Amino acid sequence: MARAYVIAIASEKGGVGKTTLATNLAIYLKGLSEDLPVTLFSFDNHFTVDQMFQLSKTKSSHHVGQLFSEMSAVDLLQDGQYGVNFIPSSRDLFAYQQQVRSIDQLAKVISRSSLQGIVIIDTSPILDIYTRNALYAADRVIVPIKDTPSLENCRNLANFLSENNRSKSILKLLPCLIDTRIHFDGPFRNSYQLLKAYAINRGYRCFEGFIAKSPKVESLATNPAGKIYPVITHGRNTEVHLQLTHLARQVYLDYLEHGPVRINEIANNLYDQEEWFLKEYKARVDKLQPHCLFCDAPISIEDIGPQDYFLENDTGNFSGFIEEECLLTLLLQECYPELNGKGQQKLLLEILGSTAKKSYLLLQKTVIDAEQNQVEIFRLDQQGDKISGRSVILKNRSRSQRQGKKNLLQLFNLAANGEHEKRQQLLLQQSGDNPLQTLQHHNYLEWKTVFNRAQIDLQLESNSE
Ligand SMILES: Nc1ncnc2c1ncn2[C@@H]1O[C@H](COP(=O)(O)OP(=O)(O)OP(=O)(O)O)[C@@H](O)[C@H]1O
Ligand SMILES: [Mg+2]
Repeated sequence: MARAYVIAIASEKGGVGKTTLATNLAIYLKGLSEDLPVTLFSFDNHFTVDQMFQLSKTKSSHHVGQLFSEMSAVDLLQDGQYGVNFIPSSRDLFAYQQQVRSIDQLAKVISRSSLQGIVIIDTSPILDIYTRNALYAADRVIVPIKDTPSLENCRNLANFLSENNRSKSILKLLPCLIDTRIHFDGPFRNSYQLLKAYAINRGYRCFEGFIAKSPKVESLATNPAGKIYPVITHGRNTEVHLQLTHLARQVYLDYLEHGPVRINEIANNLYDQEEWFLKEYKARVDKLQPHCLFCDAPISIEDIGPQDYFLENDTGNFSGFIEEECLLTLLLQECYPELNGKGQQKLLLEILGSTAKKSYLLLQKTVIDAEQNQVEIFRLDQQGDKISGRSVILKNRSRSQRQGKKNLLQLFNLAANGEHEKRQQLLLQQSGDNPLQTLQHHNYLEWKTVFNRAQIDLQLESNSE
């Protein structure tokens, strides 16, 4: 599958011409090759992309923040002016930031999508999680520099790349907003030559040429019509038009020469990783006990109901399902004996049921002596923090045991898998519509995090007693 070649436009310095470059480059690339799919989006919040490319007045409800949700990148695209596809900008990327958990999310989203041709990402002047995602996904990072501070700032971009095992050569600097009226004495006759010499001296690659500062270009963004016009249509008689044409040619040749190396690389890693996740998932499914952990009725994967509970022990070597009714009987029998037989069963079921999807149950057994055990039952919230708890003493030779009924201690023994620790924990959660979802990679990591967190809290509590 042909994938997308990604260009990020980045600089930690504000106002160096990133957005002007990103938007115009998209149009000039289309001008060079009409058939080339060009996609553009911006992580800055100025809405320049929208003002320049939006075809209709009706605003789409989609925006760049959703690239980090479950949505497919292609579903966010809009057909824009000049044949450029774009994803609408967002005013509220800050609020979306919580969804962005890692720097490789965007690269993965692009690699899973059917995006092709060239994707241009305009970034904001901060090295935030969005910019880092763009840099991580990029085959090429274009860095506009307009003065020495913006050149010095490139160091942070280079450091980010090297921290992520990527070559500094991905960066390519472009002097921008160059005032061609300024001349110097000596070997470097203007600020373009001076900046280029500085850049090369610091080991950076540079594009040929520069983008001049032009009052005409500046006016394209500020005019009574309240529109933002591209250079290709409204600034053809400027030197910037020739400079952008020259730049687009270099970028296009780069694209033809190298192709979408980065996204291919990400897609291959993802394939390997997903294969591995699938293997681990299958191993977890194979390990499941084939019967209800209480009543021993055979449970096949197809039989698991959304109300049934998934259970795992603290070492992760014992797991299975317990039917809701069975769990309730077990809890009523031993942890809530005062409710037993008083028609309260329904009430407990309702209480458990209404909060089950948003919480976990943790059962902890502590051996007191040869006869007695303390069993605690906790309800945990989604982060693993305790909401409520209750403690009971269960005897090894209890009435239920003498009567040969299955009981909670037997469940603990079963889950102990032959090991006899003083303290043992079981975590349970209602299965929901997709009973095996907890076993999938990301959910299982979450499950383990909740379990570990609860164990640490309980350990700390018992140390302080
Ligand atoms: N070649 C140019 N000549 C004159 N003005 C320009 C040129 N390029 C950009 N500008 C103007 O400079 C200002 C900053 O440009 P732009 O918004 O593209 O920078 P930016 O790096 O994206 O800024 P930010 O970091 O705030 O996102 C704008 O007013 C823009 O119209
Ligand atoms: Mg900008």
